[in-house]
Amino acid sequence: MFERSKKGENALLIQPHAGGPPDEGLLEEFADLARSAGATVAAVLTARIDRPNAAMLIGSGKLEEVKAAADATGADLILVNHPLTPGQERNLERELQRRVVDRTGLILDIFAQRARSHEGKLQVELAQLRHMATRLVRGWTHLERQRGGSIGLRGPGETQLETDRRLLQKRLEQLQKRLDKVEVQRTQMRRARMRSELPRVALVGYTNAGKSTLFNSLTGADAYAADQLFATLDPTVRRIELPGGGAVLADTVGFVRDLPHALVAAFRSTLSEAREADLLLHVVDASDPLRDERIRQVDEVLEEIGAGDLPQVLVFNKIDRVEGAAPRHDHPGEGRDRVWVSARDGTGMDLLRRALAEALELRHVAGTLRVPPQAARLRARLHELGAVRAESHDEHGWLLEVDLAIADAQRLFAQAHGEWLRPLLETLPADDEEADRYLA
Ligand code: GTP
Repeated sequence: MFERSKKGENALLIQPHAGGPPDEGLLEEFADLARSAGATVAAVLTARIDRPNAAMLIGSGKLEEVKAAADATGADLILVNHPLTPGQERNLERELQRRVVDRTGLILDIFAQRARSHEGKLQVELAQLRHMATRLVRGWTHLERQRGGSIGLRGPGETQLETDRRLLQKRLEQLQKRLDKVEVQRTQMRRARMRSELPRVALVGYTNAGKSTLFNSLTGADAYAADQLFATLDPTVRRIELPGGGAVLADTVGFVRDLPHALVAAFRSTLSEAREADLLLHVVDASDPLRDERIRQVDEVLEEIGAGDLPQVLVFNKIDRVEGAAPRHDHPGEGRDRVWVSARDGTGMDLLRRALAEALELRHVAGTLRVPPQAARLRARLHELGAVRAESHDEHGWLLEVDLAIADAQRLFAQAHGEWLRPLLETLPADDEEADRYLA
């Protein structure tokens, strides 16, 4: 089933692969990216590549096949899920008489379409110009039939591409200067937020996982969400209210597999919202069959930007699409807490707020505890946590006035002598599912 592209860009996709069968997941993701850029997928070809052809990446036999398929399907754009050298791109374009765009070019195009803030637009333009700088010399004269389409050409524009390298260099410098300025402003804003001492939470996740929708659901903001990849390019920052206090929530750019390095560099300042957070909300599309792989890929990008060690809460979103799934909060003994929600329907948002407040240690429970001599270890732990406000001693042991984060109470409850915390946890409101769970 082929949808008609509004922009009339009919794309033929080429998925190169080494030995073995082509990876269906890679192909599906690439097709999603193409649709996200506004193209219609007219045909998909896989190309087994044992030794990359220096001139064209694919061999001459495959080239004929591509040509025939493009003619038959009326494809006017060729998308290759592999980095192409400027030479390969030029040669392919000449042979195929169609525009050829590689993975990086495609991702840049999507970013160009989605950039909303001033900073995001500057970042994209800079990355695009850098990507195109090496391709500039050729001009576009080898493409006679270039009409209408725009994928891979959006942003700086063709006439600008034809200006000479000196002008380009000037533009690059100008952009860099402006970006440096914006970055200074951003740093100042971030400092101001830090001074406000609100804990910072950043939404991260594979593209299309539902970050913007969740952001809206948590903040009540009308941030843009669309069923397209990369609906979010620029971080949006809002204050949110949680049980026990406020926090600052930042939305960040969607991650993709093999995010081109040049792009990671271009978005460094945007991604620093994630790096400097106290907690990451890692949003996962629970209905995605590849969700475990996506989690791994996001973790890899986080590692790369220096945010790999930050505490995370995993949010399994879109449970409305998962049969039998209900909102819930899992605390695995080890690893990250998991909260199952539907950002679109708003189900599970209370659980998520509570999980967030707990992870940020905003929610406290206070009261008097009796601790017998044999539970001295528990008393010592409470002191270590700075949770003891006052204490007295009698023949039955200690009487402690404590005030501690629920998350800590929960941890201690699961440890030796934790049972003595029961009276404290019983003071939590009866409708508190969390308390029910500890005490069950
Ligand atoms: P990028 O900006 O590309 O990284 O995407 P994102 O992670 O911000 O995703 P976004 O919020 O734009 O949502 C992507 C699509 O998933 C949209 O069509 C949403 O309507 C849809 N979506 C988000 N949350 C849910 C959900 O809970 N259930 C369902 N069924 N769809 C959802």
